[in-house]
Formats: sequence, C-alpha cells, structure tokens
Amino acid sequence: MNIAANPIVEANQTIYLKDYQKPSYVVDSIHLDIQVYDDHTDVSSKLVMKRQTDGDLVLLGRDLELKSIKINGKKLTESEYKLDSEQLVIRNAPEQAIVETVVLIHPETNTQLEGLYLAGSDLFVTQNEPEGFRKITFYPDRPDVLSVFTTRVEADKKYPVLLANGNLIEAGESGEDRHYTIWQDPTKKPAYLFACVIGDLAVLKDRYTTSEGRDVALEIYAEEKDIPKCHIAMEALKHSMRWDEEHYGRAYDLDNYMIVATSQFNMGAMENKGLNIFNTSCVLADEEYTTDAAIMRVQSVIAHEYFHNWTGNRITCRDWFQLCLKEGLTVFRDQSFSEDLQSAAVQRIDDVAVLKAHQFPEDAGPLSHPPRPDHFVEINNFYTATVYEKGAEINRMMSTLLGKEKFRKGTDEYFRRHDGQAVTVEDWVAALTAGSGVDLSAFLIWYNQPGTPKLEAKGEYDASTQIYRLTFKQTLKAHPKYSNLKPVPIPVALALFNAQTGAQYTLKSDRLFENGVKDGVYLFDQAEASIEFTGITEKPIASLLRNFSAPVNLEFNYSDPELAFLLQYETNGFNQWQATQTLLERILLDGHDAQIYVDAIQQTLPNVIEKDPLLASRLFDVPTESYLGSRIDQDYNPLIVHEAREALLNQLAKVLGSFTKDTYLSLDPDSQHEFSQAMGVRALKNIMLSLMARQGDSEVFDLAYAQYENSMNMSERLGALKVLVWNDAPQAQAALQDFYTHFKDEDLSLDQWFMIQAAHPKATAETIQYLTTHVDYDLGTPNRIRSVSGGLNANPVNTWSFGVQHFVDLAKYLDEKNPIVGSRLLQVLTRWYTLAEPQRSEVKASLEALKSQVKSKNVSETLNSMLSI
Ligand code: TRP
Ligand code: ZN
Repeated sequence: MNIAANPIVEANQTIYLKDYQKPSYVVDSIHLDIQVYDDHTDVSSKLVMKRQTDGDLVLLGRDLELKSIKINGKKLTESEYKLDSEQLVIRNAPEQAIVETVVLIHPETNTQLEGLYLAGSDLFVTQNEPEGFRKITFYPDRPDVLSVFTTRVEADKKYPVLLANGNLIEAGESGEDRHYTIWQDPTKKPAYLFACVIGDLAVLKDRYTTSEGRDVALEIYAEEKDIPKCHIAMEALKHSMRWDEEHYGRAYDLDNYMIVATSQFNMGAMENKGLNIFNTSCVLADEEYTTDAAIMRVQSVIAHEYFHNWTGNRITCRDWFQLCLKEGLTVFRDQSFSEDLQSAAVQRIDDVAVLKAHQFPEDAGPLSHPPRPDHFVEINNFYTATVYEKGAEINRMMSTLLGKEKFRKGTDEYFRRHDGQAVTVEDWVAALTAGSGVDLSAFLIWYNQPGTPKLEAKGEYDASTQIYRLTFKQTLKAHPKYSNLKPVPIPVALALFNAQTGAQYTLKSDRLFENGVKDGVYLFDQAEASIEFTGITEKPIASLLRNFSAPVNLEFNYSDPELAFLLQYETNGFNQWQATQTLLERILLDGHDAQIYVDAIQQTLPNVIEKDPLLASRLFDVPTESYLGSRIDQDYNPLIVHEAREALLNQLAKVLGSFTKDTYLSLDPDSQHEFSQAMGVRALKNIMLSLMARQGDSEVFDLAYAQYENSMNMSERLGALKVLVWNDAPQAQAALQDFYTHFKDEDLSLDQWFMIQAAHPKATAETIQYLTTHVDYDLGTPNRIRSVSGGLNANPVNTWSFGVQHFVDLAKYLDEKNPIVGSRLLQVLTRWYTLAEPQRSEVKASLEALKSQVKSKNVSETLNSMLSI
C-alpha cells in the first residue's frame, strides 16, 4: 500500500498564466474500469501515452490509494517514481508509455461533491470540472490533454443504472449480484468532461433528429416521482438542439444525450460530454412545485449545458485561465436563446439585473479580477460573475457591433479553425476577426482588465445648425494588482427622440455602425471622443446604451422629466426599465419626489400590460437593498437603506391607491395562453398584493390566503405566502404549516419554505437557529444551505448583524466538508469594508479570527483576498 505522505501544506501556491507550458506527454486513449462497492471503489486505468516535449511524465492524483503502477507491462517499485499528495512523477519515462494504475477511492464518504461521490442513498455521480478527475485516478488532469475514453462501470444490481459518456458497447453480469456496462466515447475530450453515474433512477425518453439526419436518443434520469417534472426540460432540450442548428449551424454529434438529476450538487449543472449532470433545481420544472423563475432557469440551464457541446466540449480551453472562453460564450448563447423564449426585453432586464447586482460589486471590491485572470490559487474560486456574466457581455458587445450576419461568419470561422482543439481567448477573437472581416482585437483589453469602466456622456444641441453632439469620456479605477489600464472599446447603442412628439429621429452620422434604420451603434474606443448628428430639428432626448450595449456605469445628466419621458416613449423595453430604475434610485438615495415616477407609470402601464405584462411587472422593480448597498462605498449603514426603501414602497402604495386593488382584481393568469404572458400576469398580481398589504387594509390578507389556497401554481402560492409571512398576518402560521404538510417530500418546494422564513425582514438569530436545526435542514445538501443563507441574505440589515456569525460558521464548517461551497458562501461578506463603524471593525474581527481556523485553498484564498483591502 502506498498512501500519499502527509500533505506538505504549501500555502497560497499561486499559479500564473505566463507560466503555461505544453504537457510533456499526450494521452491517445484511456481505458477505465470503475468497480463500486459499499465501502470503497476500485479504479483501474490504462493510459496510452506519447511524449510530446521534454520533461517528466506527470500524473496528477489526490486522495488516491495507489495499489499498483506499471509502465509498458512492467511493475514499478517505489523508488522508480515520486509520489506526493498532488502528483505522481516518473523520470526518464519512455517515448511511448502504456501506464496502468490501480487505485482505491472512497466515494461513499466524499462530502466535497467533487470527483466520484455518493449523492443521497442510491446514486453515485461525478463532478470533474475543473480538477475533480484527479480524485478518481492518476491522470494528466488538465484541459489541453484530450483523449478517447472507454469506460467500464461495475456495481451491485441494486443500482440498475450504469452510465458513462458515449455509446454503450457492452453490458452484462459479473457474478450473481453484480453487473457492468462498457461505454466508448468516440470524441476526444479532456478529463473534466468525463462522467459516470451509478444508481437507481427512472428515465424519461424522447428522440430528436438533427439537421444532419442523425437520430438521437434523449434521456433524462431522475427519481421516479420526479419524472413528470422532466417534460419542460425535455422540450427545452429539443428546442436548444434546433436553436443551435438554426442560429449557429451546429448539430449534435452523438447518438445519445443523457441528463441525470441529483439533489446533491455544488452548482447548477455540468456539461459532461453526452452525459450532463444537473442539480435537480435546474432540471425539474412544474408549475405546481416550482416557480416561474425556476422554470425559466431550467430552460436556460438546459440550453447552456447543451450549447457547451460546441462551445466548451468540441472546442475547449487550453488552460483554466481561459475559462471565460467557454463560459462567457455559452452564457451569451443561452441568454440569446432565452430572449427567444419569453419577452426579449425582460430577459435582458433580468440578465442585466444579475450583472449589476453581482458582477459590478464583485468588480468594485477586493475580489475583482479580469474575465481572464492572470493568476489564481484555487481555480474553483474563479467560477465567478465576472468570468460568466461579464464574459458574456464581451461577446454580446462584439455581436452587437458586427450584427447578426458578420457575427455568424465569425463563429463559423471559429468552429472551422478550432474544432477538436484546446484554445485561448486570443484564438477566439482572431477567428471572429478573420471570419467577419472586422478587426476586434481591441476587445482583448476587456478580457485582460478588471473593473467596470465609468462612461460619462454629455449632450449639446445647437439649434442654429440643427446638430446634436454627444461627448464621451471613459475612466477606470486603479487596481492594486493590474496596472496600465487602457481604454476599452465601448459600443454605445443609442436613439434620439423628439421631445415634443415622442418620435424617434433617423440618425445621420458617418461614424455609426450600420445596424437597422433608426438604431445606431457608435463605437467609442478612446479615452474621450464625440459624435455629431445632423438634421435634428429640436433639442432631442437621447437614450444611451440601449439594451445595455456595454457593461459600464453610465453617467448622463438626465432630468427627472426626461427619464419619465423615456419611460413613456422609449420603444426599447430595456431602456424603458432603466429609466424607472434611475428614477427610483434618485428617489431613494437622493430624496427626489416620487410623484413624477408614479404619474409616468400610471400613464404608461395600461399599454404595457396589454403588450407585455411581464415587462409591466418589471417596471415596478424597486432596486433591492443589496443592490443599493453595493452602490455605497463607505460608511454604509444597511438600516438607513432599509428605511429609505421601506418609505419609498409605502409612499408608492399610498400614491397608487385603489389602482393596486383594481389591477389585482382585473388580472387573470388563467386567461393567458402563452406561458410568458401568464407569468407576467402572475408577477404583476403578486406585486399588487404586496403593495396592497402596505396600504394597511387587512382584507388583503384574506385575498392573499384565498390566492394561496385556491391556486395550484407555485408562483401564485408563494407570492401569497410571502405577503402573509412577511407581514406577520394572522393567517401566516396556518399557511406555513399547510405548505409544509403539502410539500415536505418535495425538496425544491421545501427549499422555498425555508427561504421565505429566512427572508422575513424581521428574522432574528432565533429564526435562523430554528431553521438550521429543523429536521429537514441538511448541511450535506448545498441547495438547502443556500435556501436559508440566500433567504437571510435578502435582508442586508440581517446579513450584517446576526448573519455574520451564520456565514462565518458555515465557512468554517464547510472548509473541510465542502470547500467549494464554503468559499462561495463566505463571499457574501465581501463588502464588509464599506460598512460604517463600529460594524466594519466587528465584521473584520470575525473574518480575521476565521483565518487561522481554515485550511482549504478555496476558503483561505477567498478570505485572504477579502481582507486584502
Ligand atoms: N461548467 C459548468 C457550467 O457552467 C459549471 C461548473 C464548474 C460546475 N464547476 C462546477 C458545476 C462544479 C458543478 C460543480 O455549466
Ligand atoms: Zn457553463
């Protein structure tokens, strides 16, 4: 036996992009044999390796018990290799090396949900991105080593389902109680895309014929009782397959596509080749059990993982610094897909809301990094809003600039050049440039720099010449680790409106990118520049960054009436919404009068409700306390923000008066035929209900209780339950009890029950104590942890008081049990340094105290960065 010696704690080993070196050996093929037993798993592997450059033969491995190793048939003795806690190194290995290892692992006690692990009582699954495969067997576990995988999986017959990537080529018995399958994946892939599943699951089947005529078997595996909740995902999968053919010319390449649902998963889902593994929260969808928002998320995640087949799997990343190459592009693709599923304006609103609520604050604080970082300690810490969401924005900017046709030529060229390769962000931009004929190389600056640019714009009108001039200036805050910040190319989509008539001017300027008749895109790519429009007959109202054409902080000196004008006349739904947000932020943070907003919304709303009820509901979005807090960089007092926002909501409720109840009673989701419309009507009804509760009319609780009781739709039930619980209505406890009784065996629904109570504005340490000691609370299930932590974090006043201990304790506990999730939860406290004293020092002390108590690279890197400000 040979267990890796005591891990040498090499704290904070930083890895740099500039140190990238090609692997010394490639792997032509790998044969894996995985035999699962109750108390351990045996893994044998045979790697056919070939020398490529000078250097040792390096196999990475973690927590593996090495039983034997052979090279070219000859057993190696312990003196013939060097083994530590991270790798096995063989000096002077031959040019051609067939390496055979046998190791023993313990998936049954693996709580980190990485590598092969037991997920619940009768399911084993894998999660290998980014570096989990090394916890299954010794391997050059890096994305630029691509190989052909053949996998044999063997287990007790109590696990009837034995899956791996690719085609099933053999199945049979192995003794009386055991059976096996053998799978072969014809496509070369990096190890992070390997997956296998061993369990007792039911399956939903369907078929899809690709544009190339391939007949693909589609299978979604889940618990028997959840199979009826898999239909929406199945439809979304077929829709995604068609969408990628139509929009990117990409057809699916295997004869089967399998999705496996598990409730024990660190993130949303994983794109393993032909065998996706999904968090149940991202695959199960059913109006009775999950919310409309969750249903939309299921569809977008199904699309996301499917789209990875081309952007991520067929073309993968050279190294993990390039993570945003696959994630940024795939998020952009899934966002575009979702824009086709529902109100495109609302999809964009929701995506930008996420960007502004998570990515902007991340980029403004101590965890700020470029979409492509140049160093890291633990790559798991870089699955961030910046890599995903800002990465998507960079692709969106290039696509906005090129327009549909040229962007397509660019992506065609990317697939033509790089299919089957592991590439870099530079390769992507170069292919887009070559294919489109437009030089996009300046966009590389976006990938390499941190921070959200500030974009200042000024408009000047000259009536005598009928010229309107817009002047732009961009600035970036200095960053301690990245110097030499350069101006970035900023596509500014814009429109000019006639302030008298509300009509949109047709833009005339030779400096605009062609993009439709009235819309214009101006590429602002210097520190300062201006653009002039001729033939403008009256002083116009400019609408800038339409559809949020660049991830920047825009400063433009609108007057409140101009914003109200845009709310009414702007035809771009996103900018209509943006106008409401700017107005509301001013009322909230700068004490402006609310009347102008209320008047404009009452005039605009009937029309919008008619056309797009979902958009209508978003026009009532009042910036959240967290978002408002994230805009305050010092002396932040959560209580002051809370009180200001409460005052605004109360004022809105008052000024809207009977409009809320009239609207509530006039809306009927069941009369809508389209899901998107019905979802909008439900959202609007719930908003009206919560505003009514602020009007002090106790009859509203009867309406809410009736809505809760009479509806079979989860969004309606939850909307009503929130109003009852958060207002401590007399019916609140009965409703909560009823919900629990009804849904206690439905994990995703029960998550909502935990969440609502944790998110009570008046929740206390005792509330959290009650929830985290509840029989259904489980520290081994990230979804359940997140339901309480996420609920708690909906109220910054609570997060920054008793919540601090909650998050610190969680980080400490998860540091050992599940450091990936521990590190992410700790990030909730990143903005501690903006707090007013004495809170600032108190939170800092708690974080400092945690430092000596954590060991994982994940949590320590995050903690060190958080405290480095
Ligand atoms: N690649 C996955 C996606 O974005 C995300 C992912 C990375 C992941 N690491 C993970 C998922 C760990 C679960 C667990 O689609
Ligand atoms: Zn992804």
